[in-house]
Amino acid sequence: MYKWETGIDNKVYEDALQLRKEVFVEEQNVPLEEEIDGKDEKALHVVLYKGNQPVATSRLLSQKDGTYILQRFAVSKKHRRQGLGKRLLTEIINKVQEKNGNYIILHAQDHAIPFYENSGFQVEGEGFLEASIPHHTMGYEI
Ligand code: COA
Repeated sequence: MYKWETGIDNKVYEDALQLRKEVFVEEQNVPLEEEIDGKDEKALHVVLYKGNQPVATSRLLSQKDGTYILQRFAVSKKHRRQGLGKRLLTEIINKVQEKNGNYIILHAQDHAIPFYENSGFQVEGEGFLEASIPHHTMGYEI
């Protein structure tokens, strides 16, 4: 089951942040102050639950021109490679379509590029470092 909520005063955000701390802060050593960057208040958060258990999350930031920025995409370690990330990405694409968005943009960690390509995202431009991790910009036209 997918649950969507805007902002931080809700259980979905609490669950999203817990997953993000496990994956980005603990597993990938992203500093907590970079992980919690002040944009969660305005973001649309999604969590995929397996029963009552939060297993995957992401957030979307909408721009005025119909572009949505996809960030903080994470699947809990023991639930990876089971198709859950792909399901969540499809849910996000459908949500952006529903909201009449025209473009999704994200900064992919290089190891995750094949994952996003698998769902139709395309690499744009040169690579760069973010939180000391190599990234490329990727886009998806609705
Ligand atoms: N390299 C190559 N292909 C990959 C891949 C990887 N690291 N991870 C997934 N894929 C492919 C799968 O083979 C699968 O292809 P298939 O449909 O042909 O079988 C497809 O992408 C979907 O895989 P799925 O099982 O849904 O991916 P996942 O649930 O394991 O989620 C991540 C993938 C990247 C989100 C997950 O590994 C993760 O959360 N990593 C840690 C956090 C992170 O790095 N997030 C990305 C930030 S940009």
